Amino acid sequence: MDRLDRWIRTEFVEYNTALEEAYFAERREIVCDRPELEKIKQAVVIEGGRLIGAVSGPLPISPREKYQLLGMVGFYLAACRRHESAEPVDPSAWSLAQQLGSALGVAPRFVFAHQALYNPAVRDRYQTFTSLADEAVFLTGNGLAVLAYQRAADALRRVPPMGVSNPLTTYLLETALSALDDVLRFNRDLGKTLDVDRFFFNIRPYFKSHRVGAVEYRGANAGDFSAINEIDLLLGLCDARDPFYQNVIAEKYAYVAPEDQVLLRAVVDEEPLLAKFLREAESGAGPRLRQNAELFLAVCRAHGAAYTYHHHRLVKPFLVAPAEKAPADRLTGITASGPPLDVVVAGLSRLSDLRSARDRPGVPTARPSLDRLRSLVSTTSAQ
Ligand code: HEM
Repeated sequence: MDRLDRWIRTEFVEYNTALEEAYFAERREIVCDRPELEKIKQAVVIEGGRLIGAVSGPLPISPREKYQLLGMVGFYLAACRRHESAEPVDPSAWSLAQQLGSALGVAPRFVFAHQALYNPAVRDRYQTFTSLADEAVFLTGNGLAVLAYQRAADALRRVPPMGVSNPLTTYLLETALSALDDVLRFNRDLGKTLDVDRFFFNIRPYFKSHRVGAVEYRGANAGDFSAINEIDLLLGLCDARDPFYQNVIAEKYAYVAPEDQVLLRAVVDEEPLLAKFLREAESGAGPRLRQNAELFLAVCRAHGAAYTYHHHRLVKPFLVAPAEKAPADRLTGITASGPPLDVVVAGLSRLSDLRSARDRPGVPTARPSLDRLRSLVSTTSAQ
């Protein structure tokens, strides 16, 4: 495992970076007709396969080590897929990934959590595919936004046992608000710093769907963590009985870390804070309930603002716009989840409407309930 780790941090990065620079020089997602590049692709497949094949003996005992090892095998498989090498992937990588995935109850492939949350830095560097500055910008920006979402979810998860008119809830809602403001700030920094072409040609292709054994697993995306769904459901902006939303959660279940699976299961049973606020406010709002309800409405606004930014300032300019110029044969598999881009974007747009409570004809959101709460607790705030 140590040798595999060292290789991923050294030669693997050098090979991938050299290939990416060659692709980028031609502004193409991949170049397949140059012998010197084919040799480098082959080195990735063969050297990585040999090191993975040499990982022997009993698997690491702790679930964390197992998950980290699955991430390392996943780096290898994702790079093999990305470079579309003629050299076949070493089957020992598939079988080790399967064994680890089964032991952990997760998809046997590399996912967002491996890259951001289970990726120990050594001498200032965590594992990456390349040494390109834009990859580091993308990973750090994503990771920070996820940590901020998790801070918001941690705070909101603690509200139900305390109740919505509790003075301690004021602090929890303030924490959630500042965390969601951070999400927007991190997303903005990412949107301003990341280079669109570098992302499209050199970073995105590592997150494609690929086979492990006989099964094709969908690609990784920065949304594969539970906190955002916990926030949706705890606030009451999304509904655990809405088939559209149920599908969002069910689909991502195998792609989140094991501890996030527990949280996803727990949150679908929780009564949303919006329902709790409305029930108490209907029977007469005291000053604490009023203060907390104002904060709650601000938290909902912040959640909507951060996600609307993702939709209009990240998804559209970094994926939809460059995809319009890409050759038709490169559009297959452009989305992490598999469906065509317009279908994925329509789903993200619906999530954006739900999170920002923007009603559309025939597709209602929590808007009327939020308006009702606002009118019950205040005559001045505007959600
Ligand atoms: C350049 C930056 C980004 C781009 C182009 C982008 C694009 C996308 C796309 C296309 C999807 C749908 C994946 C699919 O189903 O195929 C997605 C999902 C998602 N992304 Fe991003 N994303 C970016 C950064 C981020 C960041 C920083 C976050 C914050 C944590 C984030 C959070 C999410 C979430 C939560 C989902 C899952 C769907 C949902 O629940 O909303 N993304 N993203």
